[in-house]
Amino acid sequence: KQLSIIGVPMDLGQMRRGVDMGPSAIRYAGVVERLENLKYTIEDLGNIDIPLPSKKDDNKLDNLRNLNEITEGSHRLAVAVDEVVEKGNFPLVLGGDHSIAMGTLAGLSKHYDNLGVIWYDAHGDLNTGDSSPSGNIHGMPLAVSLGIGHEKLTGILDYEPKIKPENIVIIGARSLDEGERVLIKEKGIKVYSMHEVDRMGMTQVVQESIAYLKDHTDGVHLSLDLDGLDPDEAPGVGTPVMGGLSYRESHLAMEMLYQSEMITSAEFVEVNPILDEKNKTANMAVGLMGSLFGESLK
Ligand code: ARG
Ligand code: MN
Ligand code: MN
Ligand code: MN
Repeated sequence: KQLSIIGVPMDLGQMRRGVDMGPSAIRYAGVVERLENLKYTIEDLGNIDIPLPSKKDDNKLDNLRNLNEITEGSHRLAVAVDEVVEKGNFPLVLGGDHSIAMGTLAGLSKHYDNLGVIWYDAHGDLNTGDSSPSGNIHGMPLAVSLGIGHEKLTGILDYEPKIKPENIVIIGARSLDEGERVLIKEKGIKVYSMHEVDRMGMTQVVQESIAYLKDHTDGVHLSLDLDGLDPDEAPGVGTPVMGGLSYRESHLAMEMLYQSEMITSAEFVEVNPILDEKNKTANMAVGLMGSLFGESLK
């Protein structure tokens, strides 16, 4: 099994500097060694070049901060991800803020008729420039991938939409803006919020998610935002929300996804070592990757 790692030092999708150092923090936490131990061949492609933020005051055009720079960076990532899939490797993308998912999904989805997405996150990331309370594009990538949002973003790699609403499962949501709730209802997107996780338990949530995606998808991408976890356990994130998924629930989820054999690509995003405690959050990310790729006690 061949795995290609792509780092994306992107911090333009939100306001907290330092998340561009996420890929370094995750490499420092030993991602390559950890996965090599599981008998994967790892190729680290290094980092995508991300433009500097423009200092002009048009950088918040249409409530979309750093639109042009993010479009350019996303395009570069999409091309790199496309190449990895093309040669038959598993793409493992390290963020960077969650805006990078637009590029990842653009590069992935042209290779699938029905790409599934598991969005493991405290947030829905379903805003548009119109609905966003912040103008931060990291709150928009799932909407953009559905073809909803500014055409520069939805048009990355010249096709849209990248994904269909019925192929998405959101797990861990506990902070949704009004516009996001409307979109979820309108599109019938499957959401397991913290309410469902607490009521049903993570076992059933993941079992149902797998069953839901299995029939009608030909690949499944895991987009894991570390703020899906509780900030006590993963403090190095820019938009923490209390009451999150635990270390244990998250490892269980990763182990079940490994056993399902359905995951065809993954990204781990929003690790910000500047806000972290002794690289705890990058270590969490690497531990979760271990479980996702087959570490277990037997
Ligand atoms: N919903 C908020 C916004 O649109 C927060 C988004 C947080 N997104 C993330 N990828 N951490 O600004
Ligand atoms: Mn191709
Ligand atoms: Mn989030
Ligand atoms: Mn997110």
